[in-house]
Amino acid sequence: MENGPSSWNELQERVTQLTQECQREIEQAANGAALQEVKVRWLGRKGVVTQLLRGLGDLPATERPRAGQVLNQLRQQLEASFAQRESSIIAQEKAERLERERLDLTLPGRRAPLGHLHPLTQALGEIKAFFIGMGYQVVEGPEVETDYYNFQALNVPKDHPARDMQATFYLAPDLVLRTQTSPVQVRTMERQKPPIRIIAPGKVYRNDADITHSPMFHQVEGLVVDEGIRFSDLKGTLIAFAKALFGQDRRVRFRPSYFPFTEPSAEMDISCTVCGGKGCRVCKGEGWLEILGSGMVHPQVLEMAGYDPERLTGWAFGMGVERVAMLRYGIEDIRLLFENDRRFLAEF
Ligand code: DAH
Repeated sequence: MENGPSSWNELQERVTQLTQECQREIEQAANGAALQEVKVRWLGRKGVVTQLLRGLGDLPATERPRAGQVLNQLRQQLEASFAQRESSIIAQEKAERLERERLDLTLPGRRAPLGHLHPLTQALGEIKAFFIGMGYQVVEGPEVETDYYNFQALNVPKDHPARDMQATFYLAPDLVLRTQTSPVQVRTMERQKPPIRIIAPGKVYRNDADITHSPMFHQVEGLVVDEGIRFSDLKGTLIAFAKALFGQDRRVRFRPSYFPFTEPSAEMDISCTVCGGKGCRVCKGEGWLEILGSGMVHPQVLEMAGYDPERLTGWAFGMGVERVAMLRYGIEDIRLLFENDRRFLAEF
């Protein structure tokens, strides 16, 4: 053994020293690659321990077995140390990678933006649901209407002052954009036999534009005709409607009014949805909000539709869907409903 121990004690001492040296290098290897380098240097084919084992042949035959045993032990011990350090480096690297690539599975997901029904469609849906539930049929009529159905058949002759109630778009002397859904009452009566129980939703047009009026808006008309229909039917139905839409504890009142096609006529108010009746900006200090017009169908209207007003009676109503939506959802400017600003629409 070149430069090797010349006695047994020296060998022991050298082995102890080498063990410590190697142990320290193992400890200091910061990662798998560094450790591998150290291992090659100690246990590789030209490594320190291998060289020592090769040197055994130079020893006297009597010392060889013991020296061999000691060196083999050294090799085994170092191999075990390398293996131990290796697995702890692997575990550490894995822990570091997991930490680096950490996913927070508790974060909320990103939802795909989902559309929904326009607030007007929602309001119309609630109105329809109530009346369909009461057994009403839903019917429609044309938006371009004749003067006859929009006015005359509803007891508003040409040049009658009641025409001033509705700023009308004329398309031709006898053709208008309907100003109300009421003409659908007449079209229905002409087509069907009593009993009649219908609602007629749709667009109507008037030459008006400000924060509560739009030149195009929506109405829902209602008509009930049969034998023995009375004003109490009108009241019972409309009170139930107001409570279904605006809450069971909402108060309701009827005020006498005038419409050419009903007699008597009444407007229905509900207690203000904003202040509850105390008086505020929205109800202009009144505590009440008007939500629809109604009345007992005028005998003249029944007669023009070909019905016998002695035998049949009816009641009718008309309401603005925008108005219902505005009161229902607290919208102050009607134009918001038609601008289609998604920041606004997303609130409903
Ligand atoms: N058509 C009326 C309007 O647009 C509303 C109305 C009032 C309709 C009374 C009716 C009714 O059917 O009976 O102002």
